[in-house]
Amino acid sequence: MLIEDPVRLATAASLVLAYSGLCAYSWNRARLARSSVPGSGPRHASHEARRVRPILVAFASQTGFAEALAQETAQTLALSGLAVRIAPLGSATLIDLSECAQLVVIASTCRKGDAPDNAQQFVDTVMRRRAELDRLPFLLLALGDRRYRDFCAFGRRVDDWLQASGAIPVFNRIELDGDDPVALSEWRDHLPGISAQARQQTRFPL
Ligand SMILES: Cc1cc2nc3c(=O)[nH]c(=O)nc-3n(C[C@H](O)[C@H](O)[C@H](O)COP(=O)(O)O)c2cc1C
Repeated sequence: MLIEDPVRLATAASLVLAYSGLCAYSWNRARLARSSVPGSGPRHASHEARRVRPILVAFASQTGFAEALAQETAQTLALSGLAVRIAPLGSATLIDLSECAQLVVIASTCRKGDAPDNAQQFVDTVMRRRAELDRLPFLLLALGDRRYRDFCAFGRRVDDWLQASGAIPVFNRIELDGDDPVALSEWRDHLPGISAQARQQTRFPL
């Protein structure tokens, strides 16, 4: 029997040890190769996907004009190759704000200086207190009508809250009286510049 022959026992033990060492070496090499080749393996791919931030276009609209302008703005930005998300302001959360590359707000005012209905949830929950928006770049188009005493009051409130929360305006708020073509073309003229800036900010810091 093998157990009774010390020479054969030692030979068999050495063979088993050598084979185990070879297996461990091969497994380790394969593991290192997987983790060092850029773009290889599903873990790397999902990490890459998480680093892309969209521009969030949020609209507060009672009768549809701000929503239509938000659609147009989102399309312009998307056509220049940027990741864009569009949503009613009322459905946006603090997490949405912290995860976007830039925030674009298009907000009308209704009743006596009030928020439109589709922004009320945002006012009641998110705007209740200052947030920590960590220099989030934002743009704001406020819609209103100078015949009302509280001209663009809601857009102004959102602007004040964003700045008090540490967000940074990319340019000064634009206020639109009715469908004033001068203010509208000022807004549209800014969009190509916004695209270029946002492109530099679509990734999380490494
Ligand atoms: C009932 C009503 C109340 C309004 N109240 C205000 C107001 O207080 N301040 C203001 O600047 N504009 C006011 N507006 C004007 C709207 O903000 C403006 O027409 C805007 O373009 C509407 O955008 P929307 O269709 O996206 O809601 C009011 C409009 C309506 C119909």
